[in-house]
Amino acid sequence: MRDTTAYLALGSNEGDRAAQLQRALERLRAVPGVHDLRASAFRESAFVGDGPPQGPYLNGVARLRTTLPAHALLGVCQALEAEAGRKLPAPRHHPRPLDLDLLFYGDEEIDTRELTVPHPRWHQRPFVVEPLRELGADVEALPRWRRPLSFETAAEFAARCSTWHAGALVVGLVPTMGALHAGHASLLRRAREECDRVAATIFVNPLQFAPGEDFAAYPRTLAADLRLCAEAGVDAVFAPTVGAMYDPEFCSHVATGSAAETMEGAVRPGHFAGIATVVTRLLALARPTRAYFGEKDAQQLAVIRRLVQDVGFPTAVVPCAIVREPDGLALSSRNVYLGADDRRASTVLFRALASAQLAFRRGERDRDALLQRAHAVLATEPRAEVDYLELRREHDLRPLPAGAIDGGRMLVAARFRDGVRPVRLLDNLSLGAAGT
Ligand code: PAJ
Repeated sequence: MRDTTAYLALGSNEGDRAAQLQRALERLRAVPGVHDLRASAFRESAFVGDGPPQGPYLNGVARLRTTLPAHALLGVCQALEAEAGRKLPAPRHHPRPLDLDLLFYGDEEIDTRELTVPHPRWHQRPFVVEPLRELGADVEALPRWRRPLSFETAAEFAARCSTWHAGALVVGLVPTMGALHAGHASLLRRAREECDRVAATIFVNPLQFAPGEDFAAYPRTLAADLRLCAEAGVDAVFAPTVGAMYDPEFCSHVATGSAAETMEGAVRPGHFAGIATVVTRLLALARPTRAYFGEKDAQQLAVIRRLVQDVGFPTAVVPCAIVREPDGLALSSRNVYLGADDRRASTVLFRALASAQLAFRRGERDRDALLQRAHAVLATEPRAEVDYLELRREHDLRPLPAGAIDGGRMLVAARFRDGVRPVRLLDNLSLGAAGT
């Protein structure tokens, strides 16, 4: 069996710390398959973290050579922690008699539920870095856990998602067209909270733009997008070129039905078929456990919900609330193209929707009266050329019959022509719920 050099971080802040660390080292030396173990001196450092008040840690690092696979070495460490009296599963940031972390296993990168190697934060911890130096390690040359990983080919992206699935990890997917803003960031953060691994895709999808639309002019800010993904804790970014996404022979398209026919579908023929095609491809590549979409594009969300159900993807579609500017304008990558006057005028969309929501909350139940409220507000702003204003059923956005309603979502689209280029803005609001 091949020998691998592994490094372990040792820590203790409960009981006889030095004795527990010494005992762990002795026990490790006696493990079959472990040899040439050398340990640094122990050092004391104050506890830093969110846990309850607790005493300082005694820390050190051990270097060893081993024929054990990484997960077997992890198993040995966990057995020693349990033997020292640590309760498993251990609550985060609580005092512990013994903490053994696998820092490095050769130069391997291991990305499973149980084990992430190199340890993601080793280089930020003086109580790890100093002992490593003492052991003669070249700290600058040691591997770092670099995130996000960046993929340009579909095959490599899919392969990484497969390794996550093989490790039974919950994989979250956030599809985007880039030019990321706080609205996208809210999806990424939600995915980060709910999933073990988060993949973001950045791809301005030509199939969802009609000839003459703004495909070429769509804002592209990849470097800033990657920084935002890193800050949001994204694990992988898939940012392919058009050629890497659709091979030259590509010819299979997903057709969409009634959910895609009205509103945006009527104004932009083929738009939702282009979205359904790219989303199908992304879901097939990543096979995410959960996929995150904004309510900002409510009809897109309805089309994708239908698609996921119709095709049978094993993915939960997670709707995310709209993020707005303080004055109510929904964040959108295209807002950068609004001229100053149109930017001021653009708040009319949210004001119109909010007035219908207020009327609903005050007891108005008649569909057309609610639409009339919103129309009256829109009419106060001549700069807004309204494409449509609709009141639809929640969730699937099917039409609501005239008369009394018990809830619904109001959707609006309007054009503003004053800026660098004409901009179409979309907005919508649930009449029943606050703030969405
Ligand atoms: P894009 O416009 O980049 O949006 C990516 C996701 O972010 C969508 O789910 C969208 O609804 C969400 N989003 C945008 N602005 C938001 C806001 N202000 N608050 C909350 N969420 C917001 O939508 C697309 O890209 C594409 O059509 C795509 C699904 C990626 C397919 O190409």
